[in-house]
Amino acid sequence: MARVVVTRALPGPALGRLVDAGHDVHVRAEPLPPSAAELRALVAEADALLCTLEDRVDDTLLAAAPRLRAIAVYAVGTDNVDLAAAARHGVSVGNTPDVLTDATADLAMALLLAAARHLPQAEANVREGAWRTWNPTGFLGFELRGARLCILGAGRIGRAVGERAAAFGMEVRFVGRGDDLHTALADANVLSLHAPLTGTTRRIVDAAALAAMPAGGILVNTARGGLVDQVAVAGALHSGHLSAAALDVTDPEPLPADDPLLAAPNLIVLPHIGSATHRAREAMADRAVANLLAALGGNAMPWPVSA
Ligand code: DGY
Repeated sequence: MARVVVTRALPGPALGRLVDAGHDVHVRAEPLPPSAAELRALVAEADALLCTLEDRVDDTLLAAAPRLRAIAVYAVGTDNVDLAAAARHGVSVGNTPDVLTDATADLAMALLLAAARHLPQAEANVREGAWRTWNPTGFLGFELRGARLCILGAGRIGRAVGERAAAFGMEVRFVGRGDDLHTALADANVLSLHAPLTGTTRRIVDAAALAAMPAGGILVNTARGGLVDQVAVAGALHSGHLSAAALDVTDPEPLPADDPLLAAPNLIVLPHIGSATHRAREAMADRAVANLLAALGGNAMPWPVSA
């Protein structure tokens, strides 16, 4: 019997499979993630950890978990885990790819459409009682057909956004490893981010990248807040160089209430809900549990991640 620590309650029946397999499962029922100190205490006796993207797994944590053999990250992104340190400590790490692709791609399109058609401003106009009459010049946005979309990251989610955008008639260009982002941005109306956060991609969307886009563009980010220089984004929104930024992710999360980005015009910001559908979140739990069951049974994880 292995001791499995789960840092947050998860939707669906998947965790029951760990119990059925005879493991001692401790599900932390708190609404907020554990502090670093609490997480260290939680893993001290643990054989396996099921954590979220909020839980930082670094050398210090791994050193405090002498029995730990397996970590299942309840996400596709694993930038919260020091994978090299996990390998040094002999801990296998897995993630939950594929099952959140459609949910995240759908949200990227929702953000793109909301920004292109000024939905937040138009809705606020109605709620505030400011809407008087149908207005020939009110809330004019742009149509997706013929607009140029630059997708940073040609992985599963990037490609799924590309399919959706192509169905809307957009001209889609992918920027993958080795491609020049600034060149690709030269005629892009929209930049949508779907790259993992790594040492190479951190703050890749900086003032120079935004300046490489034509004026009036839109930035959509459903990947990781760290991909973006938020000071530069705020500046580009204030100057009007960006007509909108639609962000499901920020750095940090949540943004402090007094963060200057929140004061920028034409900003849509969501609480990191890209994978927040019943189907995706339950399937993510299935994959995380399958990773742990495999590792605890002495087998390779079905969805392993390595440095
Ligand atoms: C991920 O999986 O990396 C998302 O950001 C959360 O679902």
